[in-house]
Amino acid sequence: MKNGGDMIAVVGATGNSGRAAVKELRALGENPLCVVRNADKAKDVLSADARVAVAEVTDRASLEKALKGVDRVFIVTGHNPQSGEQQLNIVEAAKAAGAKFIVKVSGGASMATADSETPVGRGHHMVEQAIRESGLGWTILRPGLFMRNVLAQAALIKNDSKIALPFAPDLPLSFVDTRDVGAVGAHVVKNAERYVGKTIEYSGPASTYAAFARDFSAVLGRTINYIGVTFEQAEAALKARGLPDWLINHQLVIARLAANGGFSQAHPQPIRDILGREPILTRQFVEDHKAAFS
Ligand SMILES: NC(=O)c1ccc[n+]([C@@H]2O[C@H](COP(=O)([O-])OP(=O)(O)OC[C@H]3O[C@@H](n4cnc5c(N)ncnc54)[C@H](OP(=O)(O)O)[C@@H]3O)[C@@H](O)[C@H]2O)c1
Repeated sequence: MKNGGDMIAVVGATGNSGRAAVKELRALGENPLCVVRNADKAKDVLSADARVAVAEVTDRASLEKALKGVDRVFIVTGHNPQSGEQQLNIVEAAKAAGAKFIVKVSGGASMATADSETPVGRGHHMVEQAIRESGLGWTILRPGLFMRNVLAQAALIKNDSKIALPFAPDLPLSFVDTRDVGAVGAHVVKNAERYVGKTIEYSGPASTYAAFARDFSAVLGRTINYIGVTFEQAEAALKARGLPDWLINHQLVIARLAANGGFSQAHPQPIRDILGREPILTRQFVEDHKAAFS
C-alpha cells in the first residue's frame, strides 16, 4: 500500500459508486483516503480499517484540510441542484491541497450540457469545464443509466408486480451497475497516466425496460409487467410520492432525453478493457438485490 506522495482520495466514498471504488482500490493494493460527511455511515459501509476524513462538500476549507497530501482525487457525490457548486469546492480544494489528478463521475453527454434543462446537467458541465481548465491531469467518466434507479420501483414491484416508468418498453437503454461505475473509477484513478485527458463513456450492453422486467420475472418467479407511462402520468406519480420539484423535473428531463435516444448508445467495451471482465448485467443486478423486491 502506498502512503504520502501517491495517495488516492475518494470523495463520496459512502455512496454507491464511491464504496465500489474504495473496494476495488483496496483489491488493487491501495488504501485510499475516504472523504465522507458521516463517519458512522463510513464505519458501516466501508471496511473497518478504512482511512477516513470527514468533510462536507459545502465546506471548502474542511475539504482542503482533508485532501492535504493527496495526489489523486476521485469525485462521485450525490446529485442535487447545488451539486455543481459542491463539486467546484472539491476541485478547488484538491488543487489548493496539491493534488495532481482528478477523476470525475459526470452525467451522460446528452445531459451534461451548458443549457441542460436540469441543474444537475448544468452542474456537471460546469465542473467538467473547471476540471479541464484546472491545469491538473483529469479524466471524465460518463456512465450510462444506473440500474439502481429501479429501486424506486421496489414498492410497485412488491405490491403490484409492475414497473411503471416514462420510457417506451422497447427503447434501447445503456444501463450500468454502480459497482462497475466505481470499479472503473478505481482503475482510472490508480492508472492515471493511461487515461489522462480522456472522457470515457461506459455501460453494460444495450437493454430495455421490458427486458429488465423479464429479468425481474425470472428471478422473482412471478410475472412483473413493464408499463411505459406518459410523462404526465410519471409526473403525477412522482408528485404523489412527495418528491421535490427539482427531482421530478430532473427525472422528466432524463426521460425526454432518453425518448430522443440520449441514453440508447451502449458502451460495454471500456468496461471489458479497463476491468478485464464483462459488465454486470441487469439479471445479475436483480439477483443481487432480490431481497429489496421480494
Ligand atoms: N442515477 C443515474 O442514472 C446516473 C447516471 C449517470 C451519472 N449519475 C451521477 O452519479 C452521481 C451519483 O452517484 P451515486 O449514485 O453513486 O452517488 P450516491 O450513492 O448518491 O452517493 C453520493 C455520495 O455523496 C455524498 N454526499 C452527498 N452530499 C454530501 C455533502 N453535503 N457532503 C459530503 N458528502 C456528501 C454522500 O454521502 P452520504 O453517504 O453520507 O449520503 C455519498 O457518499 C451523481 O453525480 C449523478 O448525477 C447518475
